[in-house]
Amino acid sequence: MCGIVGVLGSHEVSPILVEALKRLEYRGYDSAGIATVNAGKLDRRRAVGKLVNLSDELVHNPLPGKSGIGHTRWATHGAPSVTNAHPHQAGRVAVVHNGIIENFKDLRATLAGHGITFATQTDTETVALLCEFHMRDGTGPVEAARKTVAQLDGAFALAFLFDGEEDLMVAARKGSPLAIGHGDDEMYVGSDAIALASLTDQVTYLEEGDFAVLTRQSLEIRDSKGHLANRELRQITLENTRVDKDGHKHFMAKEIAEQPVAVDKALRAFLDDQDVITLPEGLDFSKIERLSLVACGTAYYACMVAKYWFETIARLPVEVDVASEFRYREPPVSPGTLALFVSQSGETADTLAALRYMQGKADVIAGLVNVPESSIARESDVVLPIHAGPEISVASTKAFTCQLTVLLLLALKAAQTRGLPLPAGMPDDLRALPGLIHQSLASEVQIASAARDLATARDIIFLGRGQLYPLALEGALKLKELSYIHAEGYASGELKHGPIALIDDTVPVIVMAPKDALFEKTISNMQEVMARGGRVVLVTDPDGAREASEGTAEVITLPRAPVTLAPILYAIPAQQIAYFTAIAKGTDVDQPRNLAKSVTVE
Ligand code: F6R
Repeated sequence: MCGIVGVLGSHEVSPILVEALKRLEYRGYDSAGIATVNAGKLDRRRAVGKLVNLSDELVHNPLPGKSGIGHTRWATHGAPSVTNAHPHQAGRVAVVHNGIIENFKDLRATLAGHGITFATQTDTETVALLCEFHMRDGTGPVEAARKTVAQLDGAFALAFLFDGEEDLMVAARKGSPLAIGHGDDEMYVGSDAIALASLTDQVTYLEEGDFAVLTRQSLEIRDSKGHLANRELRQITLENTRVDKDGHKHFMAKEIAEQPVAVDKALRAFLDDQDVITLPEGLDFSKIERLSLVACGTAYYACMVAKYWFETIARLPVEVDVASEFRYREPPVSPGTLALFVSQSGETADTLAALRYMQGKADVIAGLVNVPESSIARESDVVLPIHAGPEISVASTKAFTCQLTVLLLLALKAAQTRGLPLPAGMPDDLRALPGLIHQSLASEVQIASAARDLATARDIIFLGRGQLYPLALEGALKLKELSYIHAEGYASGELKHGPIALIDDTVPVIVMAPKDALFEKTISNMQEVMARGGRVVLVTDPDGAREASEGTAEVITLPRAPVTLAPILYAIPAQQIAYFTAIAKGTDVDQPRNLAKSVTVE
């Protein structure tokens, strides 16, 4: 959360900073701001809300200068306001920050003891004040920043800019990612490479504890022990960093539509034309006796589906945990454990903390990520990239289906390694998956019309059984996230143990029921809902529709598909229901309130 950017440029830097921030806005949109040094003087502009408000402010109040830093905020300490917006300035120092300074209250107390006063409630202002404090005795800016960073606890990525220093920027990383971009007589800093994509394809990723001093022509990096560090200069592929809507109304619509291609890519990365599934070195299921799957949000629901696959297909016991709770259980870890951390961004702080808990305990730590340069990838023994391509919309869509695809391939490989038969047709049937997703997308028209009715509801319930239960949870998460309608997902058999009390004719119930071995049972639960006046939207396949449409308000029909693939296909209507309900309600689809995409705070 929060995106930071910095440019030591050769042109006016304000529009460049705003452009780079546009690419980081998915990290938070509570406020935005930039600071520059011009004719030796630091100055800044800030605005509450989305970046467009900062752009407006800059039209009325331009900010000249060829060196600058910028920030887009997801509020942690202090409400969204101009005062609390970054960059924070204290005398000769301006700072932008992503993360949380955990000891900021102690630092504030120390500074207050020196008579220093505070203008904001933020932890970041403390960083600027501390650096300015260190400069009081004539200490130079780099040394002052170094001393400051050494006093900070918590997770942070920081960029410092100084009064009177037009060719100097300092950046530091501990716990939050930071990339340095190299240009022609220019140097850049960004929370990720996407932010810098229009400026350069030459990127150096800072490692944990790194402290970097940049000028237009030089970059010096020191590691956490203060030793000069040589970090790899990487060429990033610009194709992976293209960020546009490609003619779609929203990034989410584009990302939903991209799923046939994205899933095909994920498949081909692990499955060859001879049906051989190849995993990266270091992941050998002959040595694995159990799995521990850990993730947050949508990625957690992907893990819940994977539990069904690993247990039924590969007969491996699986535990699934929400990352933010995992460590507090202090789970005992048995020999032969594969700990698998699933994260689109690869930066989710809770998931990363859970991964660190498992280091030295699990036999193998694997990171299943969409960003191969991310912290989770870099701290894993084995990296499993899902190849979804950049996902910009805050709600996860194509990353979910790609996560599921790779998890299914892993379960199949585990079964093969353990000498177990695969479900009939596998893995060959997987090749049909992109086509089936493509056909499922066609339900869009029907869903858009059903969504107009759903948008009037106050509460909506999703039901699913077996491997479709996690999809009911995912459907409810997506819907509340985008439309702000209260929604809950339940295992359909659980309904009668309490939640059925909620049912009346004002509560739409979305039932996900492919015609599989559990169909009859789920349909019985659906009948129980209808008997109490519940308005049912049934999502099923042609056989299910023929058998169970009677009495339902709406039937969404997906193509007939192999049973194992159903969770991946049913993700499409789950996403489309949320998308079209949000459109009908007029909410902000790509940037729902209070959320951010890369959740780098615990
Ligand atoms: C929901 C959503 C979130 C993320 C969660 C984990 O649409 O996007 O629930 O799935 O914040 O994020 P990653 O996968 O980046 O760890």
